[in-house]
Amino acid sequence: MSNNSDNGPAILFLCLGNICRSPLAEGAARAAFAAAGIAATLDSAGTGDWHVGHPPDRRAAAEARRRGTDISDLRARQLAVEDFYRFDLILAADATNLRDARALAPADATARVRLMLDLVPGRQGESVTDPYYGADDGFAATWADVSAVAAALVAETSKG
Ligand code: 4NP
Repeated sequence: MSNNSDNGPAILFLCLGNICRSPLAEGAARAAFAAAGIAATLDSAGTGDWHVGHPPDRRAAAEARRRGTDISDLRARQLAVEDFYRFDLILAADATNLRDARALAPADATARVRLMLDLVPGRQGESVTDPYYGADDGFAATWADVSAVAAALVAETSKG
């Protein structure tokens, strides 16, 4: 990953509502980078605006808490054009989020836009499980996916 600043890589996690998948991804990445002692600028956003200003879905917050990470202070926001200059990497949870992000990207964007699971060996092209409309155990599957993404990001950043 391009990472020439002392502040480490700047990574934005993206989903639809910014209340389930991307806040879990941000939380998993915050925990993983902190555990590795590596600086990073981490944030999350949604392509949609329905949940702007809302905290994470309480099922997502509960899953993060079970895994030792507090995401309850996060608030949803919508992806903005400035994000394509502020971040090195924008990681979309699924193919629709990826398509919507690329449609918004300015021609001179500096951020690369990829699927989250493209970073995980053997998972390229896959979407992070969307737990919003499913049973509560979907959140454990989502956590597993975003934890694998976070581990891959830390490994990639450690390589320099
Ligand atoms: P997220 O999940 O994109 O992972 O935050 C969803 C949140 C809200 C909706 C859909 C998915 N919604 O339709 O409101």
